[in-house]
Amino acid sequence: MVARRDAVDLEAGRPSVIRVGTTFAEGTPVEIELEALRKHTVIFAGSGSGKTVLIRRLVEECALNGVSAIVLDPNNDLARLGDAWPEDPPQWAPGDAARAKDYLENTDVVVWTPRRDAGRPLTFRPLPDFSGVIDDRDEFREAVDSAVESLAPRAKLVGNAAKVHQGLAVLREALMYYAGRGATNLKGLIEVLAALPEGVSELKNAEKLAADIAENLHAAMVIDPLFGGTGTPVDPGVLLTPAKGKRARVSVINLAGLPSDGQRQGFVNQLQMALFSWIKRNPAGNRPLGGLFVMDEAQTFAPSGAMTACTHSTLALASQARKYGLGLVFATQSPKGLHNRIPGNAATQFFGLLNAPVQIEAAKELARAKGGAVADVAHLGTGEFYAALEGGGFRKVRTSLCLSHHPKSALTGDEVIERARRSLEEPEA
Ligand SMILES: Nc1ncnc2c1ncn2[C@@H]1O[C@H](COP(=O)(O)OP(=O)(O)OP(=O)(O)O)[C@@H](O)[C@H]1O
Ligand SMILES: [Mg+2]
Repeated sequence: MVARRDAVDLEAGRPSVIRVGTTFAEGTPVEIELEALRKHTVIFAGSGSGKTVLIRRLVEECALNGVSAIVLDPNNDLARLGDAWPEDPPQWAPGDAARAKDYLENTDVVVWTPRRDAGRPLTFRPLPDFSGVIDDRDEFREAVDSAVESLAPRAKLVGNAAKVHQGLAVLREALMYYAGRGATNLKGLIEVLAALPEGVSELKNAEKLAADIAENLHAAMVIDPLFGGTGTPVDPGVLLTPAKGKRARVSVINLAGLPSDGQRQGFVNQLQMALFSWIKRNPAGNRPLGGLFVMDEAQTFAPSGAMTACTHSTLALASQARKYGLGLVFATQSPKGLHNRIPGNAATQFFGLLNAPVQIEAAKELARAKGGAVADVAHLGTGEFYAALEGGGFRKVRTSLCLSHHPKSALTGDEVIERARRSLEEPEA
């Protein structure tokens, strides 16, 4: 049996904290309260800065504290979270070898491979489970808005602006009607649209508009197997619940099977909608942190400027997930390219080495907005960051090396599949 670590470490009589490094000046440990991670984290750092190492150590430390994580892996460099170092790295601090052993023994690392049947595929319902939000008008409306946003591109609403406008309205009305009955499957929504029941919409052309939308959604289901879901629809509870005898689960979702940004955004939107609805039904309660959701290359999902299929659900999580105890970690090489509401919602911020002048300028601006300065951000070494922690100013820190194996090169597609299969052979939750 694994000892459960509680919200408050009774022996020490203080809140649970994780350590992610040491300060430059005094070499004292840099600690983050687990509860502070509820208010989210951003990591701004360029190539070779030590960004992946920091993301991994955050996930590992949370797992050691019994907090499970969902980690998006866009670059094949996070699927080794369950691999041991072949030998103890010299950069480890005293105690890290024991922590690594504890992490690897007691963490259930599962690698998922959407659209790769050879690995461990994952599909999602295009509609969230509305039953979790049906009693709260605001949250219900929020869930409907997210669903409209994710369905609209597939509904192919084209023509003049007025027609698009009316089509969106009908789609929304049909969803309100269908979701209000607690239904969640796309086929059912298509049936409602194909023969719009009396009273769902008062728009004059509603029936015709709805029938066209039904036709296009149907076509989208035929073309894209991830949409409308062949395969088992996945419950985020599965992603965040460790197998028996393990302390935490780390679900790495490798995105290699979804090559285009559009596919990735659509998938992440579905994941985020499911996650939002799940965390509301399963809030952290008195635990300091109920789970962690990690998004690397965040600028491709919620960029500044253009809206993507997952912008809305990303911002909804960023502004509301804290209520339910879900912590978000956003990492990007491009502070300039990230939607500004994300750093605006992140209490913990790390700034690592940046090279491009526009990114350096953007980072300095973001730091100023947070009341600090990152003057040397262009001259930091690998594993060196400015850290702005909740309740403290900016300080320079050396981050700890990760506990799981992180060689220079990322995994190949086949090596990712192999890890996904390996995790399939272990006992289920
Ligand atoms: N905290 C650290 N302690 C010791 N070594 C580190 C640390 N962080 C990074 N390194 C070293 O630097 C290398 C690069 O780090 P990492 O892979 O995290 O960079 P990155 O910013 O993710 O780069 P990329 O843009 O290539 O993905 C690591 O392989 C490791 O050798
Ligand atoms: Mg990296």
